[in-house]
Amino acid sequence: MTAPLIDPFARAITYLRLSVTDRCDFRCVYCMSEQMTFLPKKELLTLEELDRLASSFIKLGVRKLRITGGEPLVRRDIMTFFQNMGRHITSGALDELTVTTNGSQLERFAGQLFEAGVRRINVSIDTLDTDKFAAITRWGRLEQVMRGLDAAQEAGLKVKLNAVALKDFNEDELFSMLEFCETRGMDITFIEVMPMGDLGNEDRLDQYWPLSDLRARLAERFSLTDLSKRTGGPARYVRINETGQTVGFITPLTHNFCESCNRVRVTCTGEIFTCLGQEGKSDLRAPLRASPEDAVLEEAIRAAIGLKPRGHDFDYSRGVADGQMTRHMSHTGG
Ligand code: GTP
Ligand code: 5AD
Ligand code: SF4
Repeated sequence: MTAPLIDPFARAITYLRLSVTDRCDFRCVYCMSEQMTFLPKKELLTLEELDRLASSFIKLGVRKLRITGGEPLVRRDIMTFFQNMGRHITSGALDELTVTTNGSQLERFAGQLFEAGVRRINVSIDTLDTDKFAAITRWGRLEQVMRGLDAAQEAGLKVKLNAVALKDFNEDELFSMLEFCETRGMDITFIEVMPMGDLGNEDRLDQYWPLSDLRARLAERFSLTDLSKRTGGPARYVRINETGQTVGFITPLTHNFCESCNRVRVTCTGEIFTCLGQEGKSDLRAPLRASPEDAVLEEAIRAAIGLKPRGHDFDYSRGVADGQMTRHMSHTGG
């Protein structure tokens, strides 16, 4: 028996978020700067190396694998990787193989994702207004993402929308987004904006819409029941009793959830970040390449998890964005 991955705070690590590319076909304002320098292709792990890495984590007890980016579906030949990962679903080693995507490539890939064993995906959409969508993503077209949503549902994928809650931006769309999701049979999760990336010209505090406020607005119109439902991620869910709809809240600022953290992130160059909100990282690429045997890699994974910090230090309560990360969200895929 292999010992499970346990961090210094007795948290079992069962969830790997694997970023397969730092590139993206959008430039969401809170995620990337307009002029991004991307990694040269030769820095990237090959799909075979990503497979070996993910499979080692699975051997060490990871039960949930989420593929992220940048935008994961823009990586060349990524469907081959999904098909190969599907073997861990078939064998029962993995409970869930999934993806967080901006939806731009779903029209092409939804069917193949389903065939590979993906059953549920998260699609990031902050607004249903075409012009606002173009503004917030800088390069995105809502219509293309909508076709992606259609394709995903036709393929049998369950869809959850992720919306970053942004003051003066999508506050006025709270109920219309809920209604859209209800009509389409999708869940929705709201996320508090985190101080990540080059904040040179931007002020996250100006954008910050606390989910405690969003929840209070929901409660003015509906009765809400807290649910014990968990999806293995940081979201906490409520049910809107009038419609039966499930709404998720990811609240790094108003309610820290680090105590129950079960996840680590690996980037497309094989860096492991054990906390989204801390700078600490370790290299897994050298150990991966050092030996065709997995023992060296497994040792490096255990050592990295042995350094996992207690949690993030994001905090806006003093009127400034404390705990800020200079790393862009796209570096680790959120
Ligand atoms: P489910 O499987 O549906 O629960 O999804 P998930 O929340 O695990 O994954 P998703 O990619 O949808 O994550 C949504 C966002 O939550 C991420 O992009 C991050 O912004 C945020 N998030 C996820 N994990 C963490 C975490 O450990 N700490 C913080 N602060 N935010 C996180
Ligand atoms: N704060 C909160 N969420 C963010 N995302 C990207 N940048 C931020 C940020 N600064 C979200 C995206 C997407 C996921 C990958 O991370 O909207 O849902
Ligand atoms: Fe791309 Fe997602 Fe970042 Fe937007 S949030 S720029 S879609 S990686």
